[in-house]
Amino acid sequence: MSDENDEMVVTPYEVRGKLDYDRLIQMFGTQRIDKKLKEKLFKVAGERHFMLERDLFFSHRDLDWILEEHVKGNPFTIYTGRGPSGDTHIGHLVPWIFTKWLQDRVKTRLYFQMTNDEKYFFNSNLSLDDVKRYTHENTLDLLALGFQPENTYIIQDIEHIDMLYEIAIEVARKVTFSTVKATFGFDNSTNIGSLWHPAIQAVPAFLHSWIYGKNTPCLIPCAIDQDPFWRVTRDIAEKLGYYKPATIQCMFVPGLKEGGKMSASDEMSVIYTTDTPKMAKRKVMAAFTGGRATVEEQRRLGANPDICSVFKWYKFIFVPDDAKLAEIERTCKSGELLCGPCKQFLAPLMVDFLEKHQAAREEVKDRVDEFSAARLRDEIRR
Ligand code: TYM
Repeated sequence: MSDENDEMVVTPYEVRGKLDYDRLIQMFGTQRIDKKLKEKLFKVAGERHFMLERDLFFSHRDLDWILEEHVKGNPFTIYTGRGPSGDTHIGHLVPWIFTKWLQDRVKTRLYFQMTNDEKYFFNSNLSLDDVKRYTHENTLDLLALGFQPENTYIIQDIEHIDMLYEIAIEVARKVTFSTVKATFGFDNSTNIGSLWHPAIQAVPAFLHSWIYGKNTPCLIPCAIDQDPFWRVTRDIAEKLGYYKPATIQCMFVPGLKEGGKMSASDEMSVIYTTDTPKMAKRKVMAAFTGGRATVEEQRRLGANPDICSVFKWYKFIFVPDDAKLAEIERTCKSGELLCGPCKQFLAPLMVDFLEKHQAAREEVKDRVDEFSAARLRDEIRR
């Protein structure tokens, strides 16, 4: 009998069930990143990156084309974003860390969109003050990763709508109700702000081309839940005279509880960047693992890293060193490494990460304006 909780649902608004990434590629109509394409990206970047090496970034649209263009001397900009509906969690950082690496390697401009309007439309519990506050808080998390103002432009939808509106109405005229209804599952009870939002989220893919009057390719790193937006955006891009944006998409960092969901409604499943080290340690020590019922059984049979949230956190973010990760996997499977000590190893890595991240947040607190896309207002053709 199929468990209805196991049914896979992946939309920009909800991720649940047992995730089958092959099926997602099929359902969404994206492409898997194969070995050849991986090598091509590493060559363009001049360096390897563990998140791609480990296939955590696994899916794409037109990545091969955009790399070809880059090699031919037609460079791309990067676009990614955040819907500021709450504190940033560790999962959100994965596409941002990868984005930072890519930006540094190919030396290009990043447009980062804070869709505070989206979160206001979609969540009736959030006030305008809330989404503005989270915009600021989440921006600190982004900047704490070390982005530089010369090449980084943060767009806050509510505050910067004048810079987005012209492209947004061009997009909106080309996208029908039946398209957004079918793509996002909207119905008659959906508020009209939510129906309009896909037009706004399309804009940064074209913003650079529009501002400078030169069609410029754009690459979007994100998790695969955002793909419906790119389907709509790509559909209308050429009709507006722009390249279709390319995407490179990652898997989801799972929650720390059984079932793998990172859920804001279950605090223990998520580690926020603002958690105190003590709180984070408590969550790690209570995490779900792939361990056996008894120590004796585990020593004899070994544990299962494939279903273990702790192992996945090593893999996604905390153990970039392949040899170290392989050692953890080997000793886990052989029964040498028990779950208690394994968690004891993750906890200080997590605490160290949070302490450094929180200190970096403090340092950038008064520098947010340096990164604002408002700087581009003067460059916009009128
Ligand atoms: P949001 O705020 O839901 O998510 C921000 C980014 O984090 C990714 N993500 C994850 N990645 C790994 N593991 C997870 N558990 C996890 N959860 C979320 C998301 O895919 C996203 O890349 N509408 C968007 C905001 C946005 C945007 C964009 C995102 C506007 N323009 C362009 C990406 C690219 C949103 O609400 O993201």
